Amino acid sequence: MQRLARQWQRAGKAVVFVPTMGFLHRGHASLMERARKLAGRKGRVVASVYVNPTQFGPNEDFARYPRDAKGDQRLCRAAGVDVFFAPGNAEMYPADFSTAVQEEKLAGGMEGAARPGHFRGVTTIVAKLFNAVLPTAAVFGAKDFQQAAVIRRMTRDLNFPVKIVVAPTVREADGLAMSSRNKYLSPAEREQATVLWRAVQRAQEAVARRPVAVAQLRRETARMVEAQPGARLDYVEFFDPETLQPVRTVKPGTRMALAVFVGKTRLIDNGGV
Ligand code: PAJ
Repeated sequence: MQRLARQWQRAGKAVVFVPTMGFLHRGHASLMERARKLAGRKGRVVASVYVNPTQFGPNEDFARYPRDAKGDQRLCRAAGVDVFFAPGNAEMYPADFSTAVQEEKLAGGMEGAARPGHFRGVTTIVAKLFNAVLPTAAVFGAKDFQQAAVIRRMTRDLNFPVKIVVAPTVREADGLAMSSRNKYLSPAEREQATVLWRAVQRAQEAVARRPVAVAQLRRETARMVEAQPGARLDYVEFFDPETLQPVRTVKPGTRMALAVFVGKTRLIDNGGV
């Protein structure tokens, strides 16, 4: 991969990169299509599929994370990807691997607080993938809003010459954000999972009329989630989209993010309110 990337670099080609963990869906495809547009006809689009062990906690779903190499390759080809990059564990993490990349401001709250070590794994693997692919730009999804902010900061702080592009969340018809983890949901859970996006929309409606205190929106969100028999709220936060700092009063422009367990499956979503 790196040899190829250096040839492209010498030829002055735009290289647009979409890192993923596979089991690809239309959300991933939309990032690849965006990458294709950014790269143009002369540029190159690389998509990686690698289920990165270091971003999963000890009690998380690494071992059973869904995989579909054939389907992933088919989707990448249809989305205009030039190179499908699927590195193996031995080359990404040799036995005596002992280095990590850690962002220390934006990665602390929300997903970082709920999943200790998660973003350390994400920034480490993304830095490594950037060094393999040598992209001029990389596309990430707004579905993982905090992840995109952390990667943007890492890229700037470590002087990676990579433009970070964030593309909108692709949703099912009923609003559920597409996710590889939706596969875990039973039919009853799948119905209840719509509560995440409904809660964001409810907050949007409330805030469109007048600024609302965070405490009130938290209560309403908790009530909506608790009304689902199989759902449990992990967190809900209201924050400035640039700094990720929590706000006290929610106004248009504030970002809302939440994590909800539906049965044993942990789902996240976010939106501007
Ligand atoms: P993964 O969850 O496979 O997501 C890969 C990319 O697709 C991320 O940028 C994510 O935000 C985006 N994505 C996921 N669902 C989406 C949706 N419904 N609409 C739009 N974009 C969506 O995020 C990761 O993998 C990993 O942490 C990774 C960055 C690859 C590092 O291992």
